[in-house]
Amino acid sequence: MASKLIILLFPLFAIAIAASTAEAQQLGLISIQGTVFCALNGSIGVSGTSTPVFPNALVQLGCGGPVVANAATNRSGFFSIVLNPSPFPLSNVLSRCNLVVNTPLSTCNATLPAVGRLLSPLQLVGSTLIGLLNVTNLIPAGFQLRLNLG
Ligand SMILES: *[C@@H]1O[C@H](CO)[C@@H](O)[C@H](O)[C@H]1NC(C)=O
Ligand SMILES: *[C@@H]1O[C@H](CO)[C@@H](O)[C@H](O)[C@H]1NC(C)=O
Ligand SMILES: *[C@@H]1O[C@H](CO)[C@@H](O)[C@H](O)[C@H]1NC(C)=O
Ligand SMILES: *[C@@H]1O[C@H](CO)[C@@H](O)[C@H](O)[C@H]1NC(C)=O
Repeated sequence: MASKLIILLFPLFAIAIAASTAEAQQLGLISIQGTVFCALNGSIGVSGTSTPVFPNALVQLGCGGPVVANAATNRSGFFSIVLNPSPFPLSNVLSRCNLVVNTPLSTCNATLPAVGRLLSPLQLVGSTLIGLLNVTNLIPAGFQLRLNLG
């Protein structure tokens, strides 16, 4: 009687274990956050000089092919992109992906160039556990104007 029950239940256990293993592998996210400034280097000035931010800018993540993710900066120049690491493993993202600000700098300051786009590689700053989620935090390593873009 008991052995019959085990035989009946075994496939259910197997399914449950397989499901929880698959789930465990997906419980990670890559979070990319940063602030874009309205300057040729897109970065904050040294020693707290108050460089204005770049609001309403389109920030795109590219990895050598089509755009992978998009975000817009808010009025504080802040943007946030969340990526599922299963199609985009962290090592690939760090080595192959760049953030491109696909809005010309002249949009935030008419004396800045209309040609070229700000581009930044990504930098790993650590990871945060939020419940079962392991969130890997990346930031722009530093934006620079690239004239061959846009
Ligand atoms: C970036 O540009 C701003 C404005 O031109 C300047 O104040 C700042 O020093 C520059 N930052 C770096 C790291 O070059
Ligand atoms: C922009 O987003 C950041 C992060 O969510 C937030 O702290 C900031 O207040 C926002 N700025 C505006 C002007 O909404
Ligand atoms: C616009 O950019 C120019 C050149 O970098 C700078 O001198 C000027 O202060 C900027 N204007 C504003 C309103 O930020
Ligand atoms: C979270 O993910 C990062 C990057 O993939 C990894 O280095 C770290 O060990 C993970 N942390 C935990 C608690 O699993």
